[in-house]
Amino acid sequence: MKVLNLYFSSTGNTEKVAKTIDETTRELGYPVDTVKILSKDMSPDILDYDLIFVGSGVYGQLPGKKLMDLHGALLQRFVKAGEIKPASPRRPSSHVVVYCTYGGVHTGMNEAIPAVKYMGQLFDHLGFTIIGEWYVVGQYMTKKLKSHSVGGRLGDIRGRPNQADLEEVAEKVKGVIQSVDEK
Ligand SMILES: Cc1cc2nc3c(=O)[nH]c(=O)nc-3n(C[C@H](O)[C@H](O)[C@H](O)COP(=O)(O)O)c2cc1C
Repeated sequence: MKVLNLYFSSTGNTEKVAKTIDETTRELGYPVDTVKILSKDMSPDILDYDLIFVGSGVYGQLPGKKLMDLHGALLQRFVKAGEIKPASPRRPSSHVVVYCTYGGVHTGMNEAIPAVKYMGQLFDHLGFTIIGEWYVVGQYMTKKLKSHSVGGRLGDIRGRPNQADLEEVAEKVKGVIQSVDEK
């Protein structure tokens, strides 16, 4: 089983989750390509993988700009290449987990849902099964927004994602890998 761990992280929270995914996958004995999105010009061969984890922090209810730019470039490329077809026929051996880290100061998880749904669409268009949508709380790291980490809809989120959050991610990674491997 080939695993790709693709993520964008501006202030380091999503990177912690991506590292947990990387370590857990390796501990289970599977090779994994962990790739941070740095520009839209990169071209991860996403059709080459059985399982992809894709994640980003949430900014203005959406994923990071670099991830969105890459998403747009890949969509265009796959449409041109005939890999995205009307009705999006399924690719039975292709699976994706879409996740975000988010602060939710205003409306909690609801403001992170557009980001996760957005990221999932490239893969759904390609016929992947979306096998998980994960929402991991991530404190506001910038000086300007630090105060959002207390008193928002989620209460005090300082220090998140914390050890417990990352352990929960590790458990879910195990579950997903077992599920995909048994197919
Ligand atoms: C400029 C900025 C905008 C943000 N906008 C949102 C938002 O709209 N909704 C939300 O839930 N969290 C928002 N957050 C919180 C981040 O999504 C959260 O801290 C996330 O874990 C950051 O991920 P990263 O450290 O991997 O970049 C924002 C944070 C920053 C710094």
